[in-house]
Parts: sequence; C-alpha cells; structure tokens
Amino acid sequence: MCGIIGYVGKRNAVPVLLYGLQRLEYRGYDSAGIAVIEKTDRKIIVEKQVGKIKDLQEHLWNKKIEGHTALGHTRWATHGAPTIENAHPHTSQKGTISIVHNGIIENYLELKKELLDKGYRFKSETDTEVIAHLFEDLYTGDLLETAFKVAKKLRGAYAVGVISTYEPDRIIGIKKGSPLIVGLGKDENFIASDIPAVLEYTKDFIALDDGEIALVKTDSVEIFNINGKKIEKKPFHVTWDVSVAEKAGYKHFMQKEIHEQPRTIGDTITGFSSSKDDQLFCMLKDVDRLYIIACGTSYHAGLIGKFWIERFAKIPVEVDYASEYRYRDRIINENSVVMGISQSGETADTRFALLDAKKEGAKTISLVNVVGSSLSRETDYVLYTYCGPEIGVAATKTFTAQLVSLLLFALEAGVKKGTISFRDYEYIYNQLIHIPSKVEDILGKDDQVKEIAHRYMNASDFLFLGRNINYPIALEGALKLKEISYIHAEGYPAGEMKHGPIALIDEKMPVVCVAPKDRFYEKIFSNIQEVKARKGKVLSVATEGDSQIKQISDEVIYISQTIDPLYPILTVIPLQMLSYHIATLLGKDVDQPRNLAKTVTVE
Ligand code: F6R
Repeated sequence: MCGIIGYVGKRNAVPVLLYGLQRLEYRGYDSAGIAVIEKTDRKIIVEKQVGKIKDLQEHLWNKKIEGHTALGHTRWATHGAPTIENAHPHTSQKGTISIVHNGIIENYLELKKELLDKGYRFKSETDTEVIAHLFEDLYTGDLLETAFKVAKKLRGAYAVGVISTYEPDRIIGIKKGSPLIVGLGKDENFIASDIPAVLEYTKDFIALDDGEIALVKTDSVEIFNINGKKIEKKPFHVTWDVSVAEKAGYKHFMQKEIHEQPRTIGDTITGFSSSKDDQLFCMLKDVDRLYIIACGTSYHAGLIGKFWIERFAKIPVEVDYASEYRYRDRIINENSVVMGISQSGETADTRFALLDAKKEGAKTISLVNVVGSSLSRETDYVLYTYCGPEIGVAATKTFTAQLVSLLLFALEAGVKKGTISFRDYEYIYNQLIHIPSKVEDILGKDDQVKEIAHRYMNASDFLFLGRNINYPIALEGALKLKEISYIHAEGYPAGEMKHGPIALIDEKMPVVCVAPKDRFYEKIFSNIQEVKARKGKVLSVATEGDSQIKQISDEVIYISQTIDPLYPILTVIPLQMLSYHIATLLGKDVDQPRNLAKTVTVE
C-alpha cells in the first residue's frame, strides 16, 4: 500500500530514488513521483507520472534534476483515482514543504475543513495533502518541532517523509501504523518503507516503532518520540545480498521466487533449528488453546499448521482470518496464545488483531519473513522464515517456508510436551531435509506444466479440490490462479463437493485435484471419479508411480513420494507453476497484478 523513500547525502538523489522506487513497486503501482530540493536554486521540484516507475523514468529522461535531499513515492490508490493530481509527493501551498505518505489519515476531512477555513487550497482528493498544508500551517521555524505538532493532530496509520526548503539538509520520517525504516550509510542516509529499496547502498538499518520520528541528515540520524524525547535505538544488520532484489535472469520475480524454493526451504529448516527459543516452547507446555490469525496465503499456511500442531503437539488450534478475528467476541485468558502469520509483518489486519489480543492478556507469537517488521517487534516471541525479500505480489516461496516453520514449531512443541517421541521427531525431520531436492524435481517439470497451462488457459472457471491437510493447498491453488490470471477459481474440500459445487461441473470445467498417495488417497480417488462421471476435465497432482490416477485424469503432474504430513510442501509447487504459466500465457502482469499490493497496511 504505497512505498516511500527519502534520500539525504552527497550523491544526486534522483537515480537513488528511482532505483529504490523500482524495488518498492510491489507495494503499489498506480502512479509514482519524486520531490527534489534542487541543488542550485534550492526550490522543490516535483515530478509525477500516472502508471509504473518505468513511466516516471521515461518522463524524467532528459530532465536534468539534481539535488541531495529528496523523496519518492509509488502509489496504491485509496483516496482518489490514480491521477497526476492525486499522485505523491504533495506540496504545501507556498511550495516550501513536500511530503510522501503511506497509510490512511482517518481524520483528514476534519483537518481539511480547518485548513480550508484558514484559506488553504487543495489540489488533490487525497487524505495526504492535509499533511503538507498542516506542516506549512504549524511551521515553527524548526521542521522537527513542527513534526511533533503535526503528528499529534493526525489519526490513522501512516508513514510519512517530509522535506522542506526552509531546512534543506534534512528529512523527517514519522511512523505510526505503516512501516518505516532508516538506512544508515556513509555520508548519506535514507528512509524507506522496506529494506530492499536501499539495499544497494547499505545493510545497516534502524526500524522505527509506532509514534517515533526520525531526523535524518547526511551524517547523522536521531530518533525521538512524539513528545520530543530522544530515543536510543540499536541498528540491525542484514546479510541479504543485493541480488535477492534482482530477477537474476528470470522473466518475473514470481518465477524466480518459485524456483528459489529448494534454497529457501533449506534455509528455513536450518534457520529454525539454529535459532530455537527454549522459553517459547516451555511456555507452550501450559497452553490450552492456540489461535492462528493471518490473511490470504499466510492464512492458508495457518490452516495447514493447525493439522500439524493438533497432531504432534496436541494443542487445540483455531485459525481465523485476522480481519474477522479482530471483531469477533473471542475468549482469551492468560493461557491463550495467539500466533500471527505474515510474510511482510506489516499487514494491518493481522497486526491490529494481534495487538488487541495482547491487550486482552494473550501471549503472542509472530511468524514473519521481514526482519525488523512491526509484527516481529510487537509480539512476545518471533519465528522467522528465511527467504530474503519476496517481491512478486503473489506469495510463493514464503508460503512453503511458513509451512516448514509451522511443521518444525509443531514438532518441537510436541517433543517438549512429550506428545511425540524424539524418534518420531527425528524420522520426520530426516524426511523434511529431502524436501528441497524433491521440490527441485517438480521444478524440472516446467515444460510439462506450461503445456498443460496452454491447454486450459482459456477456461473461465476452475475448481480446486483437496482433502484434509491438502485441502488448504486447494484453497491456495485457487487464490494463486485468480489473483494473477483473473480467472475465477474456487478451492473446496473434495468431500464437500457433492454438497453443492458438483452442480458446476460440466465438460468445460477444469478441476484440479490434489491427490497424493496419503491416507486419504482412496477417498479423493472416489471424488475424482465423481468429477469424471460428470465430464469435468481432471488435472491431478499425484505421487510418482501412481498409474491408477492416470486412467481417470486428463492430465497428471507427478511429485516425488514423501511421508503423509509433508505432502503439502510438495503439492503446492505444481499449482504455483500452473498459475504462473496460465497468467503469463494470457499476457498478465504476474508480478504486479491489477488492484493488488504486496503489503496491505490498510484495514
Ligand atoms: C497472495 C498474497 C496475499 C498475502 C496477504 C497477507 O499471494 O500474497 O494474500 O498472503 O495479503 O500478507 P502477509 O503475509 O504479508 O501478511
């Protein structure tokens, strides 16, 4: 939901901003813009373009803008259509203050009225423009002091960057609700929504917490709370190589990320095992119920985690969409534990639901991918997936890494509670470490999956079926397909099909059946026959060596054999590949599908 970046330092800011905005584009791509304090006459130059960063780049071609203090923005529209007027940065009436914003100012109408009454004129329909005018209106002669005043008037969730011709040597960053990090360089410093935006220039960062304001200059960074009290914050270092934010020869980030999975699964197994938090697992011994809350793909990972946690750790688990959990009458006591799963660690629904549960006395755990993200800092315990940045809007590698973390979490809790033996733990673990090479084998079937995609790309609806632990994989397969190809798809428990969706099946309906050779194989086999009897087109994901399924399927994609509980980590891979190929064959923009943003920081 919008990406922001700010630069102050010795080089020309414009290429730095454009580089960073490209890496933030996954957060929104309706329009983009920059505001630069010009080197010679110290005026703020603002350039904006509707569309993607490449459109802004083309627009800037041959414009010789040079400056050392600047802001950039890539927008996911909330208030007002994607137009030049609504694009950020927004500038105060006198042209002396420019701001970029990610989030929503909930009381903007009230503030706008006050400002209109004082004679301020508005050029856009955005909630953001009020911040620029407020800065002008409340300016005390000190931009930082003004930021304290402005922040006290704003309600909602926001990360804001501010520059001013009054004090051209600095950027102010304000964070409440939306993510904001400070990148620490030599003779230069940065603010940004996310680490990859400035990874080319630094690997050292400070993550701002809610209610904090950063004063960022070329050679210093200071952090304050909203009342002006200085805060000492410990920087953190990331080891990510800059290439993780590049396509590395692949056509799309999504394709690269699908193919990275053997490594990211392996890294998550190692990372989990080497950073086990004993306190967390001791705490789980007394837990009477675990709630998992998440959104989208992370929610599907939670559904699979439930099977593992109940089976191995014998802890009852409830899984909820975060946006639903937040507003229901949940029952929480001091023995309740709530786990939020989130790739970004910034999803507003998940964060706020978890914060509410924490206030009510629950112990909280987060499972996140982004180091230093809000969720990771707001919960009592943190588990990580070790994927590096995921840039494609559709989650792929982080989903399988979430599965690995949840499985290891369940096994570890089970061993600590004595609900599984160490021998069983070791047996499953030893199977798990072979999963990366089995994923590699599936990825080797890319040409076959592409051919299948070619045959089915013109279907207007798809049904995805699975049973038990592979039912959430059917949900995930359907989500992947609809979000990047815009084809309608539904995921269903295969046993439930006869209670309604079977009416949809005819010779035009492709039905993707997740049918590995596990203990539910015979059941799903019968369900597939029910589809075939109604002339549906059956695409099965099945275990190598299963010749029987070939006879009732139009297409079969084989995966290697593994033990029952591990199948979801394999069965999802062909579904990711299928969606990717259908979407690219249809000419869709898989990395930046319409209407979506990677990090959803609004409710
Ligand atoms: C789907 C997808 C989204 C996210 C959801 C939650 O491919 O990426 O459904 O899973 O927006 O995001 P996180 O995991 O960052 O909380």
